[in-house]
Amino acid sequence: MLKYTRQSDPEIYELLVEELHRQENNIEMIASESTAPLEVMELTGSVFTNKTLEGYPGKRFQAGSEIADKIEELGWQRAKELFGAEHVNLQAYSGSTANYSVFASILEPGDEILAMRLDQGGHLTHGSSANWVSKIYHHDFYGVNPETEQIDYDELEKKAKEVKPKLIIAGASAYPRLIDYERMSHIAEEVGAYFMVDMAHIAGLVAAKLIPSPIPWADFVTSSTTKTFCSARSGMVFCKEKYAKILDRGTFPGCLGSIHLQTMAAKIWSFKYAASPEFRAIMQRVLDNAQTLSAALIERGFRPVSGGTDNHLLLVDLRPKNITGKAFQNALDSIGITVNKNQIPFDPASPFVTSGVRIGLTSTAQRGFGKDEIIRIADIMSKVADAPEDAAVLAECKKEAQDIVSGFPLYPAGAFDD
Ligand SMILES: Cc1ncc(COP(=O)(O)O)c(C=O)c1O
Repeated sequence: MLKYTRQSDPEIYELLVEELHRQENNIEMIASESTAPLEVMELTGSVFTNKTLEGYPGKRFQAGSEIADKIEELGWQRAKELFGAEHVNLQAYSGSTANYSVFASILEPGDEILAMRLDQGGHLTHGSSANWVSKIYHHDFYGVNPETEQIDYDELEKKAKEVKPKLIIAGASAYPRLIDYERMSHIAEEVGAYFMVDMAHIAGLVAAKLIPSPIPWADFVTSSTTKTFCSARSGMVFCKEKYAKILDRGTFPGCLGSIHLQTMAAKIWSFKYAASPEFRAIMQRVLDNAQTLSAALIERGFRPVSGGTDNHLLLVDLRPKNITGKAFQNALDSIGITVNKNQIPFDPASPFVTSGVRIGLTSTAQRGFGKDEIIRIADIMSKVADAPEDAAVLAECKKEAQDIVSGFPLYPAGAFDD
């Protein structure tokens, strides 16, 4: 593995080996993570990195772009077919820049955006005061109903009529339920707003056609290509044909610089892979395992926010177990299970402590975990939550986690042999 780096820079090489072992030996349950297929690894580390390209096929600023043109055009064809979209732009570097390129395309400074509250599942780039977008645009937020813990569409509609946003954003980082895109699109239409869906977390489930797609309902759909899509660290934006020109202009030269051809090539491989029965089966396992974990955690005294999940993640209220998100995250980390602390809706605890954790099921489904492994994980979680500082319990749980993971290699044996 990395035979040249191993020779020239043992220090960084050793860190890579350490990280590989960490990933191999841990049960990774961060909801925004997945394991990149080997082809994605190959392509992102390929000679495509060397090519500087600006503009679009047939209209590049650099010579020597003919092959890149073929690649980008192949990507358009595959992405549009996979997602049933009218237009796609594949130049975003990530989910964040995908969002920025839509803002750059359609908004003027001072315009109003209505998005989901960050502390109830929304994302930084949708309008947090910590993000630069809040310096340029005005933001208003909608949230979830305190009873159902699901999006309060009546409140959303009332707010939209009140503040008359230029853009309404659906999509979240920590929302375990399906979103009613149809209703939101009608609200946007009624108030004369653009409707954008950020499907960063759920793009793989959408591609596999296992949950509803936002593409028919939204003017713009943005996404990361990591998370459930299981591809390179990159992004993509879909839109209706009528917005194709403004999106492309807003993306380049409006917002981004030269193309990352190496991640574009990897995404294009993934558009083919995501249409395969193998990918669909993995995504189905993600959904099945999420249901299993939800039921098993309820049986063990945890409380999944909103009562369960429809997608790849669970947001779990830990208060019935008398442990904070921070303490639970740290205790699980110490035994080899990686999750992240997360605020739950109306959380009395700070974002640094939190009353909840977010648990994702993608990486473990890719490794092949099924019902038995997920129930064993729920058992471990319960034991850890009940005795987070008991060294004997933690040692026993660590052994159990190791035993589970050892049967499911992260990558096939020999994948990284030189
Ligand atoms: C809803 C949502 N949008 C955008 C992003 C940003 O994606 P990226 O990390 O690819 O920039 C995230 C990341 O977690 C996200 O959850």
